[in-house]
Amino acid sequence: MKNAQSILINIEDLSLSASNELKSCTNLNNLEDWRIKFLGRNGELSELMKVMKDISQEDKRIIGPKLNQLKNSLVDLFENAKKINNQTQNHEEGFDITLPGRNLTYGSLHPTTLIVREICESFKSMGFQIYEGNEIETEKYNFDLLNIPDDHPARDQWDTIWLDLKNPNDKYLLRTHTSPMQARIMEENIPPIRVVVPGKCYRYEATDATHEWEFHQIEGLAIDKNISFSELKGTLYQMARKIFGSDQKVRFRCDFFPFVEPGVDMSILWEGKWIEILGAGMVHPKVLNGVGYDPEKYSGFAFGIGPERVSMLKNKIKDIRNFHANDLRFLSQFIN
Ligand code: FA5
Repeated sequence: MKNAQSILINIEDLSLSASNELKSCTNLNNLEDWRIKFLGRNGELSELMKVMKDISQEDKRIIGPKLNQLKNSLVDLFENAKKINNQTQNHEEGFDITLPGRNLTYGSLHPTTLIVREICESFKSMGFQIYEGNEIETEKYNFDLLNIPDDHPARDQWDTIWLDLKNPNDKYLLRTHTSPMQARIMEENIPPIRVVVPGKCYRYEATDATHEWEFHQIEGLAIDKNISFSELKGTLYQMARKIFGSDQKVRFRCDFFPFVEPGVDMSILWEGKWIEILGAGMVHPKVLNGVGYDPEKYSGFAFGIGPERVSMLKNKIKDIRNFHANDLRFLSQFIN
């Protein structure tokens, strides 16, 4: 018959060897082997428990609780080790179930889209339709039909990105302004015409804080009988008040564009300075003739606005290159 002292030593030994062996269990298979070895039906704990039937009543009162304690501590050790093993495995698979879920982020409209829509909306409320055109243009529409002949110095203003597309009748380019749509719309429609044409333009030029090589314009065209310069002024003044506020001051000054006569630029009074935002004028008789309109019968006005420049004023944006930099710190300020 074993005495209590030696059984207590056995209990201590078993506790020690079980926790030591557990340290080398690195996966669920090892852990299961460990469980069978120490906690299984024929395991070491069961074996040790058999002593209970051979000891005195007095020793049972000492050994019984000690064996129970050992069993509980082995079960706890096993459960904990299993939990830790699961978490490590999830980590290794790149999946941590304890991390909180990610918030969904929603997309929003680009600041250029916002200002283009706002400007177009102001013209829509004055009866203008929205028209869209092609970004790949021909020399004929981008220059010739706009009264900009081959040797005209105005061609220098629009340093052009020419395309290597072979066509014996024409040369292709990325449009340098939205004005080619004037001729296309006049060819496709019978007056009265009132349209605005938003779209991208491309110029082969160095970029700086106010110049991009890829930017937007919004072209406007109104053709009818008896359209006068005062309608041009009234329409653009109204647009400026809608975009910048009802007491916005504007200024028209003479400017030169070969496809209008007379030509102007319009500036707005912004933070004490006059800032130019668009070019405009009465459609040149040669442009009307070029598309088969009789300049004696029809007249009209056209304009070209740079929406990024308008947005820069409204939103205090210092550098136009922000629009294409794809920097969320900039873009997220326009979440609508
Ligand atoms: C033109 O492009 C004319 N087609 C405008 C026009 C239309 C005049 C109809 C008369 C009748 P201009 O080159 O000035 O003009 O450009 C018009 C506007 O586009 C400018 O006021 C500016 O706001 C914008 N813009 C021009 N170049 C750039 C550029 N590199 N980057 C950003 N915006 C530009």
